[in-house]
Amino acid sequence: MDYQKILDTIYKEMSYRDVKGKVASYIPELAKIDRRKFGMHVYCGTNDHFHFGASDEKFSIQSISKVFTLSMAMQIMGESLWDRVSVEPSGDPFNSLTQLEKESGIPRNPFINAGALVISDILVDQLKDPKKELLEFVRKITGEDDIDYDMNIASSEKSTGYRNVALVNYIKALGNIKCDVEPIVDFYFHQCSLAMSCRQLAKAFMIFANRGKILENGTKILKPKTVKRINALMQTCGFYDEAGEFSFQVGLPGKSGVGGGIVAIHPDNYSVAVWSPILNEKGNSELGMKALERFTTLTGVSVF
Ligand code: DON
Repeated sequence: MDYQKILDTIYKEMSYRDVKGKVASYIPELAKIDRRKFGMHVYCGTNDHFHFGASDEKFSIQSISKVFTLSMAMQIMGESLWDRVSVEPSGDPFNSLTQLEKESGIPRNPFINAGALVISDILVDQLKDPKKELLEFVRKITGEDDIDYDMNIASSEKSTGYRNVALVNYIKALGNIKCDVEPIVDFYFHQCSLAMSCRQLAKAFMIFANRGKILENGTKILKPKTVKRINALMQTCGFYDEAGEFSFQVGLPGKSGVGGGIVAIHPDNYSVAVWSPILNEKGNSELGMKALERFTTLTGVSVF
């Protein structure tokens, strides 16, 4: 497969001018990002990677971080994690509060904000220094030490993150949050502020395409069973109320973030990351989704 040729075609065919969405502005610092940014990186093996555009430029990964925190929580809790969070698509926006009351404070899945905040509670409860350990986890699976939180983004979200604070309070009132609210949201705002490039994200997500092992050195990070579960959740819940559309158009397990990033994987084959900060109405990268649709169409390969 000539991946570089396929990527060159996508880069030539597509432009930010073709999409009408908006850059996220509810986190004030994100509104400053240049809407013209566009990059993509495919990682198939240690010396086998392909890219175009701003693929090496770091951006705020936002909800993509939920895949890393879920991985860490599964390492610690195993299957007992599923007593605290469910595994069904929500069909509602990522920041919705409405299902919690009828469902006893058990969030539908770990990728909507409600579920990710329960995962944050678990990590804050179980780890001595969760922010440090999350950085160590991401640095280990990428083999890159220069990955860090973007403090401007974290404090910007803190200044406007009332819905997330409300979600933690509400879930706590319903009995599914153990720790204090402040350290949970502080950890959550930091995880969302992680700054990574498409290249680094594609490399990190290779563990989900490689049955839980780091490709470069064979180090086992997650059990194959854990990877099966995480990939299934990315497929069914990775794009919130647009998960069906992403499966339909792209046909890969993946995860998006309001920074405009999307990462997707093909088991035993590759991982691919794309970044364009212009979002559609569901909060997913509009150009990113189109680029991935072209990618699986031009390669003729998806999980279906
Ligand atoms: O909690 C929030 O609203 C953001 N920090 C993350 C949301 C997000 O990335 C949704 N993804 N498409």
